Amino acid sequence: MIKKIKTGDLKVGMHVVIPSSWLKHPFLKNEFDIKSRDQIREIIESGFDEVSVDTSKGFPIAEFYTVSHSDKHMAPPTEWKPDKLIPDELKEAIHDKTLPSEKKAELVYKSSVEIMGKLFEDPKAENIKESKQAISEIVDLIVSDNNTSYHLLRITSHDFYTYTHSVNVGVLSVLLSKAVFNGSDAHNMHELGAGFFLHDLGKVRVDPAIINKPGRLTEEEMKQMRIHPYQSYKMLEEAAQLSEECRIITMQHHERGDGTGYPRRLKEDQIHVYGRICCIADVYDALTAERSYKPKLNAFEALKIMKEEMINHFHRDIFEKFVLLFS
Ligand SMILES: [Fe+2]
Ligand SMILES: [Fe+2]
Repeated sequence: MIKKIKTGDLKVGMHVVIPSSWLKHPFLKNEFDIKSRDQIREIIESGFDEVSVDTSKGFPIAEFYTVSHSDKHMAPPTEWKPDKLIPDELKEAIHDKTLPSEKKAELVYKSSVEIMGKLFEDPKAENIKESKQAISEIVDLIVSDNNTSYHLLRITSHDFYTYTHSVNVGVLSVLLSKAVFNGSDAHNMHELGAGFFLHDLGKVRVDPAIINKPGRLTEEEMKQMRIHPYQSYKMLEEAAQLSEECRIITMQHHERGDGTGYPRRLKEDQIHVYGRICCIADVYDALTAERSYKPKLNAFEALKIMKEEMINHFHRDIFEKFVLLFS
């Protein structure tokens, strides 16, 4: 049975039929089973708003069944088992004392991106809770192992933007918190780490066509995008996972010291220090990412722009500590 579907509603496992000659899209065939989220991104980036799915084909993925459970052509997902949220390699890499720190950083980074990918795909409370455990391990590693942190700081991948961005901002913010709080036990680094890594989780409640749009957003699209801090906050609140202080990170990471941020246009001291830390890491990562509408900046260029053109957005002392991370 062929059904029309918005590309933003596509799921891994669906058998998609693209309504166009294969010359006009990057895939080998016009119809195929979607094997990864990356393929969904490519379909959207090829400019399709709507495609068809053949519900008699494809392979079983739990989420797919939840949206098409009334479809009698499909058998219930009895054999399919979801992947574990936390890959075994993460723990193994973190605790392997023989692993060179560069390799350790690479493995930890890769696993973290994988976790974020799965969490964004299925952000239920149970997965938020599990990812929080993994984030705690990563935070302990960053706090205790300067060599691995050194390499983690220098991995700058932006391949699957929302997932790598979450990890990049998570790592950078934990490192910055370590520098700002200087080992003080007044701050719960596990809770903080979770707030940083999950700051953009609410993007799952924004139209994927906006999240994945290759160009700049229109004012109307920006309006929708501006709901994500509150949605992140709500999701963590609903999942009863983080302390209120750390949920504030999600709510305030787009606030700017000069009052030009969102959603509340808070100023200077109205913004919690955790929000101010996340904001710096967030802007840095956005500047160093390559997007179709802007070139990628290197670390030096990004820091220079932040200092010369955006300094009023940031807490100066915290920004200074951020710059020192790269020296
Ligand atoms: Fe954000
Ligand atoms: Fe962000």
